[in-house]
Amino acid sequence: MANWTNRHRGDYVRMIKRHRALWAYITQFIKDHDITSVIEVGCGMVPEVRGLVETYVGVDLNEQTDAIHEDFTLMDVSPLTGYDLFLACAVIEHCQDAAVFFKQIKAMNPKHAIVTFFGATDREEELKTTQGGGFLFHGYTRAGIKQTLESLGMAYELFRLKNDDVLIIKGE
Ligand SMILES: C[S@@+](CC[C@H](N)C(=O)[O-])C[C@H]1O[C@@H](n2cnc3c(N)ncnc32)[C@H](O)[C@@H]1O
Repeated sequence: MANWTNRHRGDYVRMIKRHRALWAYITQFIKDHDITSVIEVGCGMVPEVRGLVETYVGVDLNEQTDAIHEDFTLMDVSPLTGYDLFLACAVIEHCQDAAVFFKQIKAMNPKHAIVTFFGATDREEELKTTQGGGFLFHGYTRAGIKQTLESLGMAYELFRLKNDDVLIIKGE
């Protein structure tokens, strides 16, 4: 545990700061768009959005949460359609194939989707995420993400918020 703390201290500090900015943004987004139902993938241990909406469903591989414990990229999402907001913060970089991740969102057709990437740089060609060990799929670039969304015909907006890239995907 001591080693983990030393190695990941920087990431942890950035995560706390990131959450302040992201939390404020997502809270405002929920108010501005009259969102009453949220499906959150990779919700982690303490889903912050849960208390803000009438209907909340979490999905996470981690069995210590009270979420649906499935790999989002492999699960049948057909029962998870019709939500106002799909949310996934700092999750896509843990998945092997971004296209599959976005196809799942498309199949669910939420009114809005917010997907964020942790620790991105300003450089278009580099999506620099957490530097910790054990994460295999941290190689997505902004350009690659844009290309994938365009090839899937998904309308989006991408901007930087503190340490995150925030991707807003509009439903059909
Ligand atoms: C970096 S944490 C982010 C947690 C939280 N969203 C946040 O912003 O603090 C990534 C989370 O995604 C989950 N996760 C990773 N790959 C997943 C997958 N394929 N399906 C579902 N959950 C996944 C992990 O278990 C973990 O809880």
